[in-house]
Amino acid sequence: MLTCRIYLNWEPNKKYASVKAYIELGWVIHACFSSEVRACVLKVKPLERNERSEKLAKLYIVGAGPGSADYVTPAARKAVQEAQMVIGDQCVLDLFREDIKSQTLILTCKNIDDTLKCASDSVKSGKTVTVISTGDPGFSGLLGSVLRRSLDKNIEVHVISGISSLLACAAKLCLPWDDAVLITFHKGASVERKREFAEAVKAGKTVLLLPDPSAFTPSEISDYLIKAGVDENTRVAVCQNLTQADEKIVETTLKGALKQSFVPTSVMAIKGNLKNN
Ligand SMILES: C[S@@+](CC[C@H](N)C(=O)[O-])C[C@H]1O[C@@H](n2cnc3c(N)ncnc32)[C@H](O)[C@@H]1O
Repeated sequence: MLTCRIYLNWEPNKKYASVKAYIELGWVIHACFSSEVRACVLKVKPLERNERSEKLAKLYIVGAGPGSADYVTPAARKAVQEAQMVIGDQCVLDLFREDIKSQTLILTCKNIDDTLKCASDSVKSGKTVTVISTGDPGFSGLLGSVLRRSLDKNIEVHVISGISSLLACAAKLCLPWDDAVLITFHKGASVERKREFAEAVKAGKTVLLLPDPSAFTPSEISDYLIKAGVDENTRVAVCQNLTQADEKIVETTLKGALKQSFVPTSVMAIKGNLKNN
């Protein structure tokens, strides 16, 4: 047992003080005290060296891949199995049905603020929480959503990458993506972003993109590019429901994509000047 004395500095207008005492490298103690307390003694039992990393609560943000269980990595499954709380939309939770051993929260567009706040509070209370994102969390995924919500800086965030739908699209089309431009319109299509996109296509780059399912669909994208001066015979592919039983790949031209409709779960590829095109 180790004893340490800590003194509390009260800031004006604060109802409580939060004290973080680093007793030794690898130990963190969080304690909250009422305003009457000026000093206290903490008695703590050291963790065994191999227990330390497990005892620190963490927030994992893991990628679930594009939708098929075959594309879920063992690392993602492990993070779900070991979590004390698992958060994700119903489709991704279904992919991990056998792995979930704890409380689950179903994430929806409407409850995202409350649910991520709950995730953060649960980590602060000592739980290890795993948030599951489709594809890879870092591309139009939940990593950005979590970081934008001013996460408590004491929370340790770990990201476990997943197979992005963009990468599944490149693989399906046998398309090297060394020099590809990756674009998301998933959260809206600003004039500036559209302009940069058209410039990349005109420069002959291969572009892999997530359309905006409600405001900038593959046919609207084709219309925009043709009006921006791109050759209407430029080859494009729209990959729908990748890796899933109802996967459908449409390979056509900008002109050919104009009058077609595609499911919202689509990736569009505009093929640049590759030798085999
Ligand atoms: C919120 S974003 C998430 C993207 C994800 N983080 C990723 O890396 O693929 C959702 C969009 O990803 C694309 N998407 C996700 N899964 C897909 C799939 N199986 N097939 C085609 N597109 C998919 C669609 O454009 C969909 O509207």
